[in-house]
Amino acid sequence: MTSVLLAAPPSALDPHGSEARHLANVWWIMFALAIAVYLVVGGLFVFSLLRGRPQSPDDVSTRHDNRFIWIGGVIVPSLILLFLAFVTVHTGAALRAPARGELHVDVTGKDWWWAVRYPGTRVVTANEIHLPVGQPISIALFSDNVIHSFWVPQLAGKEDLIPGQRNTLRFTIRSAGTYRGQCAEYCGIQHARMGLRVIAQSPGDFAKWMAHEQQLVSLPASDVEARGELVFTTNDCAGCHTIRGTDANGLKGPDLSDVGSRVALGAETLLNTKKNMREWITNPDHFKPGVLMPPATISPSDVAAIVAYLEARR
Ligand code: CUA
Repeated sequence: MTSVLLAAPPSALDPHGSEARHLANVWWIMFALAIAVYLVVGGLFVFSLLRGRPQSPDDVSTRHDNRFIWIGGVIVPSLILLFLAFVTVHTGAALRAPARGELHVDVTGKDWWWAVRYPGTRVVTANEIHLPVGQPISIALFSDNVIHSFWVPQLAGKEDLIPGQRNTLRFTIRSAGTYRGQCAEYCGIQHARMGLRVIAQSPGDFAKWMAHEQQLVSLPASDVEARGELVFTTNDCAGCHTIRGTDANGLKGPDLSDVGSRVALGAETLLNTKKNMREWITNPDHFKPGVLMPPATISPSDVAAIVAYLEARR
């Protein structure tokens, strides 16, 4: 099985967005404080070991010990916790502030993939979210099944997708690139293979992508693609998947109108190659046990026609 790891591994300490930068700063402040406390406590421990017990009761100064406990055990820890509370609340408020000119995207958590819509357009895709650099992004998060959690560590913190509730995650991307994301809330057997990727593009490239997606047509370009479309739309595939401009308008599985342009299949399970797509369609459960997509019950030549048709949807 080919591992799909073409993007940089996810890391909250490698921020590429304004909000991720805030979060990384909080992490470093907490880390520095933890190191400082460790060194001070460790130092005092070594000091007390070296000094040993007082030789006679006259050496003990109770008043001095009490002052040490009040300062080291109550006042200093309280100040540290107050400072951290301030930093955390301040950062949390900064993360949630709405901005002018936000791009709105709707993301719905499914079993076990991500449905992506761009409100106000007809663009629908899955698992790969194209976003512009520099523009504030507002992602509305939904679920129609169980609780999932949207996490792209390089760009922002985690936010849950809760059935019956609309949560919002805001961030602004600072550098173009591909960023790996992952469902961060256990949601069932394939929680681990509920990955996604954000493709952050310059505003010009993003506008081009958006314009292209708006105009996607389903016209097959060859006989084999035409056969693929016929097989796709007259078999079970069409009951669960949508391809814009055809009779396939199922909503249970990912929209496949642009599937040929995606890097991965099965929410980051497999690289999107012809061979992998053929094997995926033939027996998805082999790659993602428990997946809701049933194995294809059509002939290998029909599968090949579907693969040719789908890989051309781009
Ligand atoms: Cu969805 Cu874990």
